[in-house]
Amino acid sequence: KTNALLSILKLQPVVPVLVIDDVATAVPLARALVAGGLKAIEITLRTPAALDAIRAVANEVEGAVPGAGTILNARQYEEAVDAGSRFIVSPGTTLEILEAARKSRVPLLPGAATASEVMALREEGYTVMKFFPAEQAGGAAYLKSLSSPLAGSVFCPTGGITAQNAGDYLSLPNVICVGGSWVAPKAMVEAGDWDGITRLAMEACKLAR
Ligand code: 3PG
Repeated sequence: KTNALLSILKLQPVVPVLVIDDVATAVPLARALVAGGLKAIEITLRTPAALDAIRAVANEVEGAVPGAGTILNARQYEEAVDAGSRFIVSPGTTLEILEAARKSRVPLLPGAATASEVMALREEGYTVMKFFPAEQAGGAAYLKSLSSPLAGSVFCPTGGITAQNAGDYLSLPNVICVGGSWVAPKAMVEAGDWDGITRLAMEACKLAR
């Protein structure tokens, strides 16, 4: 399952993090992102439309690899998998989430923000984690200082990342990709500016790893 997760996260330097209010926007938005080169797409379970959005993207958007974010418990994990999620993201880690992940065929990207949290996940066999909330927890400098003592753990930092600071993270040895919402701004989604979103995705794709 780690290899499946790694191959999804290696598809692109930036995983879009989406909050979908209107399920009707999910398919055109995902198509716009895929057209710009961003295939792995995280849809957060923060809105009532989220599960239907994942289902629509899984069924209708060729080339997309939909995942579910903001997964807080086992029930959400199972519902997200049933909807067609190919990866699951949680902001932190609980025993319940770890147990749900053990039982599931779909891999978990669990959240961690401190050395102790990373160590606890390593004891559970995890080498790939989400560093959240990245900017607020200490940013690229903080994550860099975990790279030597906690060598072997790699991260997808998320939270406060933008086109301007993404490069600081992507240049670190322990970063595999970053996550962020900046490639799908709410105003552009509401305006149906799919070409504009494809352009943002293309720029994000060019960020060096
Ligand atoms: C989130 O959970 O909201 C993600 O970390 C995205 O954060 P961002 O909106 O700061 O990119």
